[in-house]
Amino acid sequence: MASSRGEFSSRFGFIMAAAGSAVGLGNIWGFPTQAASNGGAAFLLVYLILAFCLAYPALMAELIIGRHAHANAVNALRTISPGALSRRIGTGVGVVGFIVASLILSFYAIVAGWMIAFCISSLLQLVGWGGGAEWLVSFGMERNVIFMLLFMALTVGIISEGVHQGIERWSSRLMPVLLVTLVLLVVYVLTLDGATDGLKAYLLPDFSQVLSPKLIISALGSAFFSLSLGVGTMLIYGSYVSDKENLPSLGGMVTLVDISIAVLAGFLVLPAMYVALHNGVEIFNEAGNLISEDTLIFTVLPALFDTMGIAGIVVSVLFFFLMSIAALTSSISMLEVPVAYTIEEHGLSRKKAVFIIGGLIALCSVVILANFSTLFGLVIAVTTRYSQPLLGFMFCVYAGWVWHRDNLLAELRKGNPDVEQGLFWKIWPWYVRVVCPLIILGIFVQSLFG
Ligand code: PHE
Repeated sequence: MASSRGEFSSRFGFIMAAAGSAVGLGNIWGFPTQAASNGGAAFLLVYLILAFCLAYPALMAELIIGRHAHANAVNALRTISPGALSRRIGTGVGVVGFIVASLILSFYAIVAGWMIAFCISSLLQLVGWGGGAEWLVSFGMERNVIFMLLFMALTVGIISEGVHQGIERWSSRLMPVLLVTLVLLVVYVLTLDGATDGLKAYLLPDFSQVLSPKLIISALGSAFFSLSLGVGTMLIYGSYVSDKENLPSLGGMVTLVDISIAVLAGFLVLPAMYVALHNGVEIFNEAGNLISEDTLIFTVLPALFDTMGIAGIVVSVLFFFLMSIAALTSSISMLEVPVAYTIEEHGLSRKKAVFIIGGLIALCSVVILANFSTLFGLVIAVTTRYSQPLLGFMFCVYAGWVWHRDNLLAELRKGNPDVEQGLFWKIWPWYVRVVCPLIILGIFVQSLFG
């Protein structure tokens, strides 16, 4: 079965693709802004603990199931199910997963479109075309639809090329560019006046906030969103990994890259906010809280860039370029989920599947845009805050309870014959069976009633 499907050609290719999926707007926008409004380093600490102790084991569940089945989530969960009931529930989880992945892409494409628009706007400012630049950064239906479609076209173009030529090739090109751009921006921003206050806000923890349920649920959502969990993305990427590879170490690398980039982005966004404050830009509201997370990047940062003259315009181009790349390597992984399902379950050609599904998702984006004030926040909350952790919970249950332990071990042995002797096999199986589901449920229930 594996031969007719795509496969990543190397460890590097897989790590770039999976880290490309993981590193996205969630890391560069979501994580730093949430850290900024949830106690700085306190949030960082909770996030790190959740990422290593909860998200990594959940990521492994998806990768292992995917590699074993060499199939999309629906098929894979069915493959590892011993009975009729678990097969039926598995199908349901896979289907809900690809619907959630498509919905995530439908709001993600809107935001990513704004990033492209802001990037081009700064370019136009550089060449002195102020009118065009202004239109591009003003919220309007036309601009929103045009740039969402442009972003979807890029995503569709890459995914239609397949696993090796599309996902792997583009992720391996774009991820190094992303890293270099990010480092350049961090170094530059840290040299500006006011940056140290931002570092303090980021690195000095306000422990009074660490145990607040609001902080923990947003750190959990963040960690799951950031590692692309629960919707079958990592499962499908795992299904393209060759049997020769050592999965626990590959998953570890991906987690490490993802977390490092989120932490690094914090060194850009928080200092930049305080540089903005130093330059007279409003970053706190009357109540003394940071201006709301979602507007931060489109109001505070551009206002900062405006105070920096020509250097600010160049930095702005780079910053929004960085955001656009991060978004693109993630969006392709979202689109691959429904596309792989349609190809494998309904026998459509890749090109046909990509165009039909890409078109449907773009249509969803238009509906969200047309009802922006009601739908945008709602779709984000339903998909990322609730669906992702709950689906992640189901993947842990399938890896820990439904799948027979001997088969699981046989799968892990493929790329790592001594796995039984290692730490991973001693800890992970009971961990993913008991600890992960309990913690996810615990936090979830608390967020509902807390
Ligand atoms: N991990 C991506 C980010 O941080 C988002 C994502 C979610 C990607 C779900 C794929 C699936 O932005």
